[in-house]
Amino acid sequence: MSVWAGEEKLFAEGSSTVPIVNTVTYAYDDLDEWYRVAKGEKEGHIYSRNTNPTVAVLEEKIRALEGAEAATSFSTGMAAISNSLFSLLKPGDRVVSIRDSYGGTSKLFLEFLPKLNIEVTLCETEDHESLEQEIAKGCTLVYLESPTNPTLKIIDLQRIAAAAKKEGAIVAVDNTFATPVNQNPLELGADLVIHSATKFLGGHSDTLCGLVCGNRSLVKTIFEYREIAGATLHPETAYNVIRGIKTLELRVKRHNENALAIARYLQDHPKIAGVYYPGLESHRGHDIAKRQMKGFGGVMSFELYGGYDSVKIFLQSLRFVHLAASLGSVSTLAGPPRTTSHVELSEQQRKSLGISESLIRYSTGIENTEDLLDDLKQALEKV
Ligand SMILES: Cc1ncc(COP(=O)(O)O)c(C=O)c1O
Repeated sequence: MSVWAGEEKLFAEGSSTVPIVNTVTYAYDDLDEWYRVAKGEKEGHIYSRNTNPTVAVLEEKIRALEGAEAATSFSTGMAAISNSLFSLLKPGDRVVSIRDSYGGTSKLFLEFLPKLNIEVTLCETEDHESLEQEIAKGCTLVYLESPTNPTLKIIDLQRIAAAAKKEGAIVAVDNTFATPVNQNPLELGADLVIHSATKFLGGHSDTLCGLVCGNRSLVKTIFEYREIAGATLHPETAYNVIRGIKTLELRVKRHNENALAIARYLQDHPKIAGVYYPGLESHRGHDIAKRQMKGFGGVMSFELYGGYDSVKIFLQSLRFVHLAASLGSVSTLAGPPRTTSHVELSEQQRKSLGISESLIRYSTGIENTEDLLDDLKQALEKV
C-alpha cells in the first residue's frame, strides 16, 4: 500500500515515479473548464497553496495507510497540530489532554489556546481514570499521544476514545512515534490521526512535513483553514516524504527489531538505572501496548547511573549516532531531553514529568543491530 497508494495510474509522459509538479498555478485553455474546476464540479487544480498533484499523492498514501476517509498535509508537524486545533475549536470550548504531549503541542495547550478562551485540562498521562473523569465533565476535543515523548508512556486509546465518544468529543491522536505500521488509532476509535512526517514517514532527517487524516468532514474543516492560514507543503518536500513512505514498512520493522534488542541489552546492564520501552515486559504500559500496537517502535529512553557527567561521557563515546534533536531517521539519533525537547523547563519541572538529568532519548536507526549493540557496549565501558 505504501508503494502503490496514489500511484495506480501512470503520470504524464508515462513517468513511473511521481512527478514533482513544481508550479504555483495551473493554466486552462477552456475558461468553462477552469470555472468548473474552481467551483469543485470537476477534478483539477487551481493554485498550489490549495492543492497540488504531487502533494495529493502523499495525502492519498497516508489516507490509505491509516484507513482514513480523507487526508491533508502541512509544511510541518506543528502546522498540522496547530491548524487542526485552531480550525476545530472556538472560544468557550474545552480540551482534555495529557501532560506528556510533545513540547510544542503542550505550548499550544498552555499558552496559545487559553488566549482564545479555550480551556485545556492536562491529566497525568497514564491516569486513565482521571482522563475519563475529566472527559465526562464535558469537552469538545480529546487530544492524545501514545507512546509519549520521551518516557514512552502508553495510553489505552480504545478506552479513552470510548469515553470521549460518550461525550460527543472529537478524538485526535498524534501517531508520530508509532507510525501507521505499528498502530492505527482510527481502528481504535479516534476521529483524527496526526503525524509529524518529519520523523519516521520521511525517515531520512531531511524533510519537515505534517499530515492529518481521518473523518471526512473534520479533515475538510482543517483543510479549508489551512488553505487560508497557508502552511502548505511544498511539492519537492512532498516527493521526499512519498519516497520515504515507500520504504516505511521495511524501515519500521528494522527500527522495531533494533530498539527491542537494545532495550533488552540495556535493561540487564549494571550501569543502566532504567529503560523505558513499551516492548519490555517490565514496562508499565506493556500489556496495553501489546494489544494496540503491532510493533513497539524505534524510540526508547534510558537512565545512566552517575548523573549528567556519565551521560556526557557515554554520549560522546558513541560512534554510530548523531547527537541531535529529532527522531525516526535511518541513522540513530540520541540526546538528553534536558538539552533537547525539554530544555526550556526547569530541573524541577522536568523531574515532575519523570525526566531526570541522566535520561537519554535514543531513536534507533536502521543500522545493523550488532553494530549498534557493540557501539553501546564500548561507550558504556568508558562511563
Ligand atoms: C510526537 C511529535 N509530534 C509533533 C512534533 C512536531 O513536528 P515538526 O517538528 O515536524 O513540526 C514532534 C517533533 O518532534 C513530535 O515528536
